[in-house]
Order: sequence, then structure tokens, then C-alpha cells
Amino acid sequence: MDEPRNEIRKEDLIFGLDIGASKINLFAGVANGDSVRVLECGDFPLTNADEFDHVVEMLKQAAQTVESITGVDVHDVYVGIAGMHVSAVNYKGLITLPTGEVRSQDIEMVKDQASTIPESAGQIIHVFPGEYTLDDQTGIRNPKGLNGRRLGVEVQVVTSRPSAIQNLDKCVRSAGLHTVEFVWEPLAAAYAVLTADEKELGVALVDVGAGTADVAVFVGESLRYTASLDIAGNSITSDISKCLKVPISLSKAEEIKKKYGTCKITNLNADETFPVPGVGERGDVLCSRNLLARVITARVEEIFKLLKKDLEKHGIVGLINGGIVLTGGCCALDGIDEIAEKVFEKPVRIGRPKGVSGIQDAFRKPSYATGIGLLHYAARQRSENKKYETGKQLTVSVKKGLQWLKDLVRTYF
Ligand SMILES: Nc1ncnc2c1ncn2[C@@H]1O[C@H](COP(=O)(O)OP(=O)(O)OP(=O)(O)O)[C@@H](O)[C@H]1O
Ligand SMILES: [Mg+2]
Repeated sequence: MDEPRNEIRKEDLIFGLDIGASKINLFAGVANGDSVRVLECGDFPLTNADEFDHVVEMLKQAAQTVESITGVDVHDVYVGIAGMHVSAVNYKGLITLPTGEVRSQDIEMVKDQASTIPESAGQIIHVFPGEYTLDDQTGIRNPKGLNGRRLGVEVQVVTSRPSAIQNLDKCVRSAGLHTVEFVWEPLAAAYAVLTADEKELGVALVDVGAGTADVAVFVGESLRYTASLDIAGNSITSDISKCLKVPISLSKAEEIKKKYGTCKITNLNADETFPVPGVGERGDVLCSRNLLARVITARVEEIFKLLKKDLEKHGIVGLINGGIVLTGGCCALDGIDEIAEKVFEKPVRIGRPKGVSGIQDAFRKPSYATGIGLLHYAARQRSENKKYETGKQLTVSVKKGLQWLKDLVRTYF
């Protein structure tokens, strides 16, 4: 049975903020063992995600919604970050072992060395562990206590353009909130939807949102690859607005996509139609649902093909033995998983946020994977009692004026 809300202590509340290209989701929750109890979500559409004042206004509204229902002021939030300005690059570290045995401080030192990146590489958001090498031996997951002369490590460093982080932080501050930590969105979504066995085998998380389609490949606890494509749900909407019998506005095309769109062409009767308002004073025009499905399917197929080509180019496809998990709002398109399966030639499933207890079914949507994943991430940080200020400091060169950003990154070891 649900715990009454008035028994929730203020300090146990966690907040996750996903500012997407089409919406703001501000989730409030409470850590509950391995699961997260979602209390509320301030879910507001963004009509123009590029307009700063509009985003701040919607964010304020989302915060007010959450505050009015939880009865608690929202202040500290875990903020998702993703998009074309985020990238992940492999870096290596190599040190000589002073005592001939691997000690904790040697592991720290080699990781520090690997994550010391040039300023031009951007601002660090996360550092993921890779495998260690000890002299000629490779593939070591935990080298502590082993004997050798030279210890090496490969890490994946996720960075963002500093100005993108600054603008996101400015937006959060302008709404009266405070960023506890920036969290790379695919990492958050991974906490919400991936299973341990999928990660062990190697899994690709593919989020098809409004502005971008993002892929992240995880093997065990390490991130192996990430890419972002700026073709996603908005491109489908734009195709619809151009390809029907009559030209329509983007907002009307968006409505039609959600109401009549599908990727399952075979389920449709050849002559099935839906009404579209004619231009000017003209009445409704009947458009073919089959044509609509073909327009949508062509774009969805293109998105998956481009992602696959990129994975092939970087030799990643062979790592994905645990299949593909789809998240993001476009998963609402019936049959999208079947198209992904055909293109990637891998098992595909739709990722719904897991480990969510309480008032919950409404939150098990693939488009909430990031927001709920941010709660999982926050809960994990709390349970590990690793607050960001006591987290390990990364040796990273940061411009003087950006020194404050250094406090907002964390390392994944
Ligand atoms: N029922 C539906 N049918 C088809 N598409 C849908 C449906 N519901 C939502 N979408 C699409 O999903 C997209 C929004 O997904 P999501 O909320 O994951 O994006 P976002 O997080 O705002 O964007 P991004 O992750 O790119 O920043 C929009 O393009 C929207 O049209
Ligand atoms: Mg998103």
C-alpha cells in the first residue's frame, strides 16, 4: 500500500529534470530500496525549446506543479544533459607502479591521468571506467593487489560544449532551482530501463525523442560508444506536414501523427482515411492513413539505418549481444520496434521505466525513461552516500572563469 505522503521526509525527496526538445519533465520521487517511488511529474510541453524565456517559464510551472502536490519547495535537482554538443571519447592512462603492487592510490592515479583531457575536448560530465592492463595482461576489471610494473587503464570521458552546460545551468537558476549534478541522459535512461544481463551481454540504448535520436552502447558497467543524430520525431512531423494531400502546419501534423500515425502498414485497410482541415476556408480533405504510415515508416527506417551505419563504421555492432532497447516518445508509434528489429537485425524491445513503485502505471512510458532514470541516479548517489562535493576531484583543466563547473562533474569508478 502507498505510504501516506505526509510521512515522507523532506530530505528524502529527490528531483530529476529532463528538458527535452519537446517537453519539460520535472520528476519528484523518493528512493525506496532498489526502486524509486515516483510521487509526481510536472510535465509541460515546450513549443519552442530554443527560446530561453519560454523554457524558464515552463520550468517554473513544472516546479509549481510539483510543489503544490508534494507540499515541498523544489530546489536541488539532478539535470539531464544530451544532444549533439555531447560526445564521448576514449582516453588512456599508463603509470609505473612504485611498489610493484597495485594499490588503491595507484588506481586513482592512473584514472586521474586518463581523465586529464585537453581543454579543447570540452567540459567533463562523466568518466566511465574501462578495463585495466598490467604489463602484458589485458582485460582486468579490478587490478588491486596484483603485482606488476606498469598499470594502464582506458576510460570513456563524456564531455559537453561548456557553453551548453552554462546555458542549461542558467536556465535552471533562472527558474529558482539549483543543479546538484548534470547527468548524461542515456546514463539516466540506462538506470531506468536496462537489465543487468543486457548490460553484461552488451546492449544499445536508442532514444528517439523529438530533436535527436541518441544511441549509447553499454557493456558491463562501461560505456563503449555513443552517438547523436539530429533527425527524430520533429523530422517525422515535418515530413507529414509536407507529404499529405494538403499542406498543413507543424502543430496540426504533430496532432495527426499522434492520433493516426503508425508504423504498422499491414494492419491498415488500403482505403482507410482521416480528415485534414483544408487550407483557408475550404472544408476537410480526406487523407490516406496508408500514405501517412508510409511517410512515418520511411523516416523511422532512415533514422535506424543511419544509426546502424554509424555503429558499423565504428565496429560496435559485434558488441551488442544483449539486443537493443528503445526509449523516447517516438516509441508510441505502433510497430517501431519491428522496424528497428528489421534494420538492426538484433532483438529489440521497448524500454519502460522499471523499479517504479507507488502510483505508477502512468509513469511507465518510454518517454519518461530519462526523467525517472534521473531519480534512479539520484537515489543511487544518496544510497552510496557519495555526495558530489566529497566525490573525487578530477584533474581536468578548466578555464578560470569556469571553475565552478568542476564541482558539477563526477567520476564513475
Ligand atoms: N502517440 C505518439 N505517436 C507518435 N509520436 C509521438 C507520440 N507521442 C509522442 N510522440 C513523439 O515523441 C517525440 C517526443 O519524445 P520525447 O518526449 O522523448 O522527446 P524530448 O525528450 O522532448 O526530445 P529530445 O530527447 O530529442 O530532446 C515528439 O516528436 C512526439 O511527436
Ligand atoms: Mg529526451
